[in-house]
Amino acid sequence: MTADTNAPVLAFDVYGTLIDTAGTTAALARHLGNDAAPAFAEEWRRKQLEYTFRRAAMRDYRDFRACTRQALDYCCEFLRADLPAAAREELMAQYLHLPAFADAAAGLEKLSRAQMRMFAFSNGHPEDLKPLLKNAGIHDYFAGIVSVHAAASFKPDPAVYQHFLKCAGAPAENCWLVSGNPFDICGARAAGMHAAWLRRNPRVAFDPWEPQFAPEFEAADFSALAEFLLGKAAPRGMR
Ligand code: LAC
Repeated sequence: MTADTNAPVLAFDVYGTLIDTAGTTAALARHLGNDAAPAFAEEWRRKQLEYTFRRAAMRDYRDFRACTRQALDYCCEFLRADLPAAAREELMAQYLHLPAFADAAAGLEKLSRAQMRMFAFSNGHPEDLKPLLKNAGIHDYFAGIVSVHAAASFKPDPAVYQHFLKCAGAPAENCWLVSGNPFDICGARAAGMHAAWLRRNPRVAFDPWEPQFAPEFEAADFSALAEFLLGKAAPRGMR
């Protein structure tokens, strides 16, 4: 909580923005071989997100661990990968050791030097997010970690953005969501927040929805994003 309610608050999405979910590929390669692993990792992530969307739409919340585990089991079935239980446990454990994207720490460092209030805001299970960010070496940049878990739903349900705003103690118009996930940008914009899209992959297109859902800024990497956000920081005397 800060006395200056006009200071911008930054909410960083975790998986796919700070943390690279393709980090499961090496562990998958040990079980499935180098050729099959990247497609499996991609499908696993895609299905994991689909399960979060469906659980939210059905109002039948199961936490992110469960969505991740069920997506893994689905992929084993769908991609005909007969992984024993121990291998599946090892892959799930890998989710706590996913790496940060190479440019994340430097960008966060710049922003923290400007004393921006930064939060990690994620679908992830609250007990997983802290070790995940610690293992990736970026935990200490954040004033707090906000998980959707307490709202028992997932992005882009409006309830989880309201939950974030309540935890951050900031009005929506002072908050910037930073995300690599277009659905997250749309969700934040619908909740009245600002949003910047980290478009790491230039081949990914943004959803052609109505203009009010579009990101207000698009960056190809974290460095460009940090430059832009630094321009939003209040002058030192105003903080
Ligand atoms: C997260 C998702 C979008 O970290 O993966 O919230």
